[in-house]
Amino acid sequence: MDLDELLNNDSFTKEEIIFLLSLKKEEEINKLFQRADEVRQKYCGNEVHLRGIIEISNYCEQNCIYCGLRFDNHFIKRYRMSPDEIVKTAKTITNEGIFTVVLQSGEDSYFDSEIISYIIYQIKQNTDVAITLSLGERNFDEYKKWKIAGADRYLLKHETANPRLYEAYHFKQELSERLEHLEFLKSLGYQIGSGNLIGLPMQTIEDIADDILLCQKFDLDMAAFGPFIPSPHTPYHKKKGADVLLTLKTMAVARLVLKNVHIPSTTALATLDKNGRKKGLQCGANVVMPDFTPFPYREHFQIYANRKCMLDDPKVCSSCLQFQIESIGRKISKSKGDSLKQNAIL
Ligand code: 5AD
Ligand code: SF4
Repeated sequence: MDLDELLNNDSFTKEEIIFLLSLKKEEEINKLFQRADEVRQKYCGNEVHLRGIIEISNYCEQNCIYCGLRFDNHFIKRYRMSPDEIVKTAKTITNEGIFTVVLQSGEDSYFDSEIISYIIYQIKQNTDVAITLSLGERNFDEYKKWKIAGADRYLLKHETANPRLYEAYHFKQELSERLEHLEFLKSLGYQIGSGNLIGLPMQTIEDIADDILLCQKFDLDMAAFGPFIPSPHTPYHKKKGADVLLTLKTMAVARLVLKNVHIPSTTALATLDKNGRKKGLQCGANVVMPDFTPFPYREHFQIYANRKCMLDDPKVCSSCLQFQIESIGRKISKSKGDSLKQNAIL
């Protein structure tokens, strides 16, 4: 395949995606990254959107094999923030000029339709802010109630598009079920985000190509490609973590294939590489998600070990991210950063 020609394609077959993900020569990889940066510029412009995350609870009823928050991990200290603490933290985020608040937790049914609806209502009362929920797979009635209460977006990663691997990582749960949830969320008018984990045991380059194609099929508003980092006290504790270069290649290829979609430069990537955040932004990403979870909760959201900025003051951490973004000539968006899709319900 001729690389220069391929990089200028408008659409890509699975074989072409695999070819790009498999590039080995530094010069060729740099061409891929440069093209992803151009496509990002064309569809997203120079602005980087910030999404302020609040990790409202680290309780989880699931047992995903790779995750430190899994139910069977009795070594972490569990917490739940109170609704008032959450609303106060959301205010800190909007006061910083960030107009997307992400409420994230493990699958914790304590936060039911009433409590989450109350929190959404309180956060939205006086501020024009977008709310993203990332609360795991919940029941359809809850999704409906939260949408009515004012939630705008839902983030539910598919983790892997390979049904056999999905069952292996999630103890017989089925990928088809997760995809039904994504479909339903979309039908309710949520802007939807999904994505995968890169570098999980048994995963192949073909699987990653399928992950990108699945994101395309779902016409996602946001797609996240995060590296797997082994987490203590999980069955995958001793496994090898993801390769930074493969993660960057995946983000770059995803940008070429998906085009007008929000792609974050993740904290996990920044954890693996001290320049990871900037590298991600230069390989197709246009979103950064600073963590505003206050002390003492912050250090207990241990999805994986030694998470970047875990012990830093949230405001200092957010300013540092903003500095990094500006240092590579990018501009911080002051808008809510809604979907880039024409047909999105805003
Ligand atoms: N390494 C990196 N990311 C992880 N996640 C869970 N465990 C890990 C890990 N060990 C991610 C999953 C999930 C999100 C809450 O955290 O992709 O969707
Ligand atoms: Fe729970 Fe999400 Fe971790 Fe799975 S990935 S154990 S659902 S927090």
